[in-house]
Amino acid sequence: MTSTMTECADMTGVLTASVVRNILKTGAGVHLRASPVFTEASRRLRLYTEPADFGSAMDLSDMRKTYRGDEECFEEDHLVSLDPIKQFGDWFDRAAKCPEIGEPNAMCVATATRDGRPSARMVLLKGYSHDGFRFFTNYESRKGTELESNPHACLMFYWEPLNRQVRIEGCVERVPHQSSCDYFHSRPKSSQIAAAVSRQSSAVPDRQYLRQKNAELEEKFKDGPVPMPDYWGGYVVKPHTIEFWQGQTNRLHDRIVFTRPAGAEAEPGPMQRRAEAGWVYQRLAP
Ligand SMILES: Cc1cc2nc3c(=O)[nH]c(=O)nc-3n(C[C@H](O)[C@H](O)[C@H](O)COP(=O)(O)O)c2cc1C
Repeated sequence: MTSTMTECADMTGVLTASVVRNILKTGAGVHLRASPVFTEASRRLRLYTEPADFGSAMDLSDMRKTYRGDEECFEEDHLVSLDPIKQFGDWFDRAAKCPEIGEPNAMCVATATRDGRPSARMVLLKGYSHDGFRFFTNYESRKGTELESNPHACLMFYWEPLNRQVRIEGCVERVPHQSSCDYFHSRPKSSQIAAAVSRQSSAVPDRQYLRQKNAELEEKFKDGPVPMPDYWGGYVVKPHTIEFWQGQTNRLHDRIVFTRPAGAEAEPGPMQRRAEAGWVYQRLAP
């Protein structure tokens, strides 16, 4: 275990009452119930036995694109700040100004069950600061259920036209109820209703079922505010690792990773340099 991981609170394994209720009543989290128990044998990596005709199935081996030339590489002295949050801000602003990037705040969130089975999906970043990176979702969804029992998460941005990706690792905490409410009510009413309609990640009979529920709630709340469902709200990922990657055509990609060791005053390691606010940084081989 790295020292940065110890920064996260221990996993409690305690599911909130509402999450447990949801698993039992709606079938959300069915992926958890259906998962076979991990055995020692299932943890071991097996050697894949390739079928004789695998090569002819779907050969993508020639698919590659040109990234940046060496003159555009990302050197340590190109960092606009030794504070990785400010550095993220610089790259994010570039992405937001790039006309080819439709949703610069779209990011992949990876979570895992308590016993380490991963899952990932896209969500929208709704704010960042030195306190962390914030997104909103359904606490009883698959991701919510996983985060309630294992708070370790990883966020990934890929801004393809800029040949850049940023990976952020940390532990999540729930956003305070009032802040979630404020954000919930700032959304268009149709989005508020959709959040109330959807017990995200649970099975539904068909699309018509959702249409009908949507229409019922539109009628119910046509003259008043939509109450925020108690299973909905935000998470903030408090980062301990932030990696900036820039792709180079010669495949000598640039990778500069900031980590925040558990003991803020810990001495930097042999290849590490001191950054700001308790962070250190180093270059990783591509
Ligand atoms: C670009 C994009 C943005 C999305 N933003 C969100 C979001 O902010 N919150 C959310 O709960 N789901 C969002 N989704 C839907 C999720 O990817 C996912 O389908 C849903 O949250 C259920 O995931 P889960 O079953 O793994 O919990 C977004 C999907 C896409 C493609």
